[in-house]
Amino acid sequence: MSPALDSRSVLVSVGGSVAAYKACAVVTELRRRGAEVRVAMTHAATRLVTPVLLRALSGHPVLADLWTPDAVEPGHGMGHLELGAWAHVNVVVAASADLIARLALGFGDDAVAATALASRAPLLVAPAMEGAMWEHPATQANVATLTARGATILGPVRGRLASGREDSGRMLEPDAIVAAVEQALGG
Ligand SMILES: Cc1cc2nc3c(=O)[nH]c(=O)nc-3n(C[C@H](O)[C@H](O)[C@H](O)COP(=O)(O)O)c2cc1C
Repeated sequence: MSPALDSRSVLVSVGGSVAAYKACAVVTELRRRGAEVRVAMTHAATRLVTPVLLRALSGHPVLADLWTPDAVEPGHGMGHLELGAWAHVNVVVAASADLIARLALGFGDDAVAATALASRAPLLVAPAMEGAMWEHPATQANVATLTARGATILGPVRGRLASGREDSGRMLEPDAIVAAVEQALGG
């Protein structure tokens, strides 16, 4: 149990990077430390990890589609607004280059982007991608935009990537992401 996380509302937003499976460990560890956890997923994320699994691990329905907002019960059918207002912190795990671009531009085209847009909670972003994607000027400009807006970018680090290459762009390990959430909540 962690005093900083105890009964706090943590939104875990999952992007479509291959590291999406690590969101399962993040959710599990946040709950183990006492946080209330809810999950939003992009469509790409649901191709990599199932909402059913994250529902089981978080103990709550997952918002994976703006048009089937079963993350809030009973609600007004706009789960992204409910989740955005509920969250004390929003941590984006397995943030793809694409998702970072959409967050930087203020898109609201899926459950994760719309919920981030509809939230005043601090935003933590854990990118995960190939080194070339991470170092691309477009990605770096989008990261700079998010940072200037007050978001905290967690990593990434240099290490072994899913492709087998050793490069930049490896997502922080789940424990480090949980520690950053704890810190953001005053721990
Ligand atoms: C198997 C697979 C793994 C992928 N891994 C990554 C990744 O690690 N990082 C990344 O930025 N994009 C990755 N992509 C590409 C993204 O899934 C794609 O850009 C997608 O549109 C991102 O969606 P999102 O905005 O919902 O995250 C991967 C695609 C596939 C098919």
